Amino acid sequence: MIPIAADHGGFEMKEAIIGELKKIGYTPVNMGTFASESVDYPDLIHPLAKEINEGKYLFGIIICGSGNGAQMVANKYPDVRAALCWSEEITKLARRHNDANILSLPGRFITHNLALKMVKIFLETEFEGGRHTKRVNKINQVR
Ligand code: RB5
Repeated sequence: MIPIAADHGGFEMKEAIIGELKKIGYTPVNMGTFASESVDYPDLIHPLAKEINEGKYLFGIIICGSGNGAQMVANKYPDVRAALCWSEEITKLARRHNDANILSLPGRFITHNLALKMVKIFLETEFEGGRHTKRVNKINQVR
């Protein structure tokens, strides 16, 4: 099961991703928004991030116009590592090196086609571990 949430800036991309997730055998959990009217991205992203943080789901997908606001909200949760991705390679690295558990997409700046490829990569790429484990473990060590 893959929860997915977006504001109006990512609404259409969210719908496209939901279709693709079903096609490739995942069960999307649509956490809104459910129309293209303007909404505040924190209202959509907090509930998803909370569930990832609590371990209800392994991975999630969030979308806003730039991907930044959504990512900022999600990363307030200690066990969330939300990565803003805009290319296939960045997406691979977010999983391999950062063990990202939320993919944040810039709905207004990448094509739907690229987003669908990135979603697949995100869900299928393993964390490399090794030297990256030590680094990921230091992320929450605020000084
Ligand atoms: C909404 O207009 C836009 O600000 C939002 O989607 C996002 O880009 C915020 O970071």
